[in-house]
Amino acid sequence: MRETSHLSPVPAPAGAGLRLAASHGSTTPAAPAASDVVPTAVDTRVATRTLLYVARAPDDALVEHLKSRGWNVLVARSAHEVGRLIKPATVCAGIADMASFAVRELPGLEPSLRAQQVGWIALANAERLADPDVRRLIRHYCFDYVKIPVANATVDYLVGHAYGMVNLCDPDMPLDTTSASDDEMVGTCEAMQQLFRTIRKVANTDASVFISGESGTGKELTALAIHERSPRRKFPFVPINCGAIPHHLLQSELFGYERGAFTGANQRKIGRVEAANGGTLFLDEIGDLPMESQASLLRFLQEGKIERLGGHESIPVDVRIISATHVDLEDAMSDARFRSDLFHRLCVLRVDEPPLRARGKDIELLAHHILGKFKADNARKIRGFTPSAIEAMYNYHWPGNVRELINRVRRAIVMAENKLISAEDLDLAHFSEQQTTSLAQAREAAEKRAIEAALLRHRHRLNEAAADLGISRVTLYRLMGTHGLRDTSNDDKAGFKGDDKDLDASDQDARD
Ligand SMILES: Nc1ncnc2c1ncn2[C@@H]1O[C@H](COP(=O)(O)OP(=O)(O)OP(=O)(O)O)[C@@H](O)[C@H]1O
Ligand SMILES: [Mg+2]
Repeated sequence: MRETSHLSPVPAPAGAGLRLAASHGSTTPAAPAASDVVPTAVDTRVATRTLLYVARAPDDALVEHLKSRGWNVLVARSAHEVGRLIKPATVCAGIADMASFAVRELPGLEPSLRAQQVGWIALANAERLADPDVRRLIRHYCFDYVKIPVANATVDYLVGHAYGMVNLCDPDMPLDTTSASDDEMVGTCEAMQQLFRTIRKVANTDASVFISGESGTGKELTALAIHERSPRRKFPFVPINCGAIPHHLLQSELFGYERGAFTGANQRKIGRVEAANGGTLFLDEIGDLPMESQASLLRFLQEGKIERLGGHESIPVDVRIISATHVDLEDAMSDARFRSDLFHRLCVLRVDEPPLRARGKDIELLAHHILGKFKADNARKIRGFTPSAIEAMYNYHWPGNVRELINRVRRAIVMAENKLISAEDLDLAHFSEQQTTSLAQAREAAEKRAIEAALLRHRHRLNEAAADLGISRVTLYRLMGTHGLRDTSNDDKAGFKGDDKDLDASDQDARD
């Protein structure tokens, strides 16, 4: 997350999205053949290999050496220059001299480091390696790093491997570009980085994934991101909104029917489960699934076979299940509205979407991303947001999350009469800083944000979240009630929420 001026537009950088390079992050140079060959000037196969070298003060001797090894070396002296040299369809190796830039300049390199088509290695000195931001950049985007002064042989070896690793990428996977695509996930805060890491990990397995999060946080986008990064990506991604389909139609929507199964069934219909064969079935709003369909779904998950309505044949279907809901399924289970055996089948892996209010600077980043996407809706050239609009966006609670932000910014683009969108245009005038905030209010808001972030980090495990916050679990539980972060309706009856298994007797005692 970077500091950004409130007035200057922050175009959603390529670096802000979920860009997953299958090979990035690996420091194990396992690339075969092509990368192992040390090229000579006469080797035409490798003579066209391009290497980007970005350094504030490029080392001429290194450039000459790399050229002598057959690399077509392109030198950039700034983040801007290197961004321009990266071409969407050209695979290349890259050397980023982190030591030659001031620390404050390094974040500017991130969008280029994130480009999937470049296999980066970093040059750094001990001082830079001590900087947490530099370490993060190297860990996330570089194949390896070399300490300055560098030995040419080491650089030869590493850039060859980095180039080879990028070449190993699946040719069917679109290479990264610097423009934002429609389903790009924007996020730089720690919570989103953690989400991106989780997506990468769960994409590689076939286990069922359960996505939990408030309305509009990006659950469907996450499901799609998992599918698109999974080995099933060439097969269908079939979403079904269990809450939007009338109960009596749900069975036939899910499992299909044979001709003549019921009046009006004039021809066979393939259900959504079968349509997803080979791919991913996304069961959205799974909490709204009626009991009857829960039983059929459970049977399918156990047997891997379906029967169309009115049919007698068991049809094997191979799908990966991703489900999502914005309701509290634990509550639904304790009220016997949701089967716990089904829940355990669906929730082998769990992904939690952070609410927008817990994403810090990402709110601003997303707002600019949305503005960039829709600004053509107003003939007047809108350049950004006023400082009070930005303040209002940070102060507002965003119950509708990213979807609400999109709606507010789109409406503001149409309504704005100036080049900068104001808090009024966003219909958030009450939330701008010009409103006086007492110190007590500011403290309360900060406390709530810290608790939400800790709960999110620790997936609502109270012990760990409390330890992180430096308070007892009892205090945490009480503060969650104060800030409306838990259901307090049962407190009067039971002292604590009856189904909170996370509380032990000592906490009960302490509270009593
Ligand atoms: N991180 C993000 N970056 C960019 N756009 C996002 C992000 N998260 C969500 N969106 C956008 O916000 C909108 C809502 O996302 P999505 O439909 O995935 O949310 P949801 O959690 O499934 O919502 P609901 O609970 O209402 O079904 C979509 O237009 C999506 O593209
Ligand atoms: Mg949804």
